[in-house]
Amino acid sequence: MHDLKLLLVSGLVLSAEAVASYLYIPPVYHNGSVKVEDLSVAGNLDGPKMRTAANHTSFDFWYFDAFSTSTPAAINVVFYNTGDFAANPNPLAVQISGTFDNGTQFSGQVLASKGVIFDQDDNGISASWEGTGATFRGSSLDKSSPEYIIRFDSPGIGVKGDIRLKSRAPPHYPCNPNIAQMNTLLLPHLHWANAIPDATATVDLQINGTDFHITKGVGYHDKNWGDASVITSPKYWDWGHAQLGPYSIVWYDLLDYNNKEHSYAYVAKNGRLVTVGCADNAVKVRQVGMNATYPPTGGIPQAQGLTANFDLGGGQVFAVNLTKEVIVHNEVVYARALGSVTGGIVGQETYTGRAMYEEYMYGLLFG
Ligand SMILES: *[C@@H]1O[C@H](CO)[C@@H](O)[C@H](O)[C@H]1NC(C)=O
Ligand SMILES: *[C@@H]1O[C@H](CO)[C@@H](O)[C@H](O)[C@H]1NC(C)=O
Ligand SMILES: *[C@@H]1O[C@H](CO)[C@@H](O)[C@H](O)[C@H]1NC(C)=O
Ligand SMILES: *[C@@H]1O[C@H](CO)[C@@H](O)[C@H](O)[C@H]1NC(C)=O
Ligand SMILES: *[C@@H]1O[C@H](CO)[C@@H](O)[C@H](O)[C@H]1NC(C)=O
Ligand SMILES: *[C@@H]1O[C@H](CO)[C@@H](O)[C@H](O)[C@H]1NC(C)=O
Repeated sequence: MHDLKLLLVSGLVLSAEAVASYLYIPPVYHNGSVKVEDLSVAGNLDGPKMRTAANHTSFDFWYFDAFSTSTPAAINVVFYNTGDFAANPNPLAVQISGTFDNGTQFSGQVLASKGVIFDQDDNGISASWEGTGATFRGSSLDKSSPEYIIRFDSPGIGVKGDIRLKSRAPPHYPCNPNIAQMNTLLLPHLHWANAIPDATATVDLQINGTDFHITKGVGYHDKNWGDASVITSPKYWDWGHAQLGPYSIVWYDLLDYNNKEHSYAYVAKNGRLVTVGCADNAVKVRQVGMNATYPPTGGIPQAQGLTANFDLGGGQVFAVNLTKEVIVHNEVVYARALGSVTGGIVGQETYTGRAMYEEYMYGLLFG
């Protein structure tokens, strides 16, 4: 049914068949078991992976971020269909958080009381969390340089305006480029697809009366989904992305409850894929600073930064030093920050840039 046609356009491997579909998700938790997409499906890298509302132990969400290359201005937006927020009366929520350019944090959540509508075709995806005033629209990931617009007209949380991302690096799954029938799991019950590993971001928002603008910033978009709680399946993870010189990099280094490390590496240069892989030690991420241990016992607030070493094969290593700059969001077992990065292929030119990164440490609660 999903026969795969490979095209080679400016070095990107593309799967050229879209799933045309319309989907409505009602604002009520699903009672019973849910089904989620497992292997990748052509044309659906960024589409809904669950065709029902979430039950209390499943999730499907779309994450976006954008940040300035020079100030503390940073923003995260997540569109959820999730059972993980037990306190929410329905699974459909939009959360927005970040830091103003003076470093002060903000956050808000609004529930989609009227459901969610997805529309997908050859031109891409559009999604509306009805009743929130928040939508996103993305052009086809099977064409080069896709663009996304996240739009708010959400008086309930005081947010109006938009975030625009213009992709600078090809989409991918955990271990592969955007090809059908590939693995999408990071760990059992935790899937990942990275539609926009790196973007040029433009943000024009008003947040509770304050103008929030980012021009020529860095942006990113991915999604996770799964048929078990995201809070209890991974013990620990280090995730992040950075733009430095011609390079776009993404690291995802997770620890499961058997204390086995699973790592996922992505490096692109000038918009072309250099490596995407999940071999042992594909990327090794370690906290740096006083008392830094692995697995960590303290989060982003304690550590000074991290190192991420990507194995490019053939003896080449892309090594990155990250130094923490601004904590964007902190829930103790879960925090995000901006950091400055220096790095490059060891023995070659070194570049500087900026990263958004995250430490997830729910293992401290459940381990
Ligand atoms: C969920 O389904 C079960 C079995 O059909 C039923 O007994 C129960 O009342 C339902 N719960 C809700 C909240 O609808
Ligand atoms: C939700 O669906 C998953 C996957 O089918 C199932 O394992 C789980 O038991 C369901 N949870 C609830 C609360 O019904
Ligand atoms: C930073 O800016 C925000 C938004 O304008 C404002 O509410 C807050 O008071 C400012 N914080 C400081 C420390 O100036
Ligand atoms: C705006 O302010 C309201 C009232 O204090 C708050 O509930 C909401 O979360 C704020 N919005 C954001 C995006 O911080
Ligand atoms: C490092 O560990 C020592 C000994 O446990 C402790 O006294 C100190 O406060 C820790 N430092 C930080 C920055 O956590
Ligand atoms: C990273 O930090 C280490 C330790 O300070 C240093 O030896 C190395 O040269 C740094 N690498 C880069 C690319 O800055």
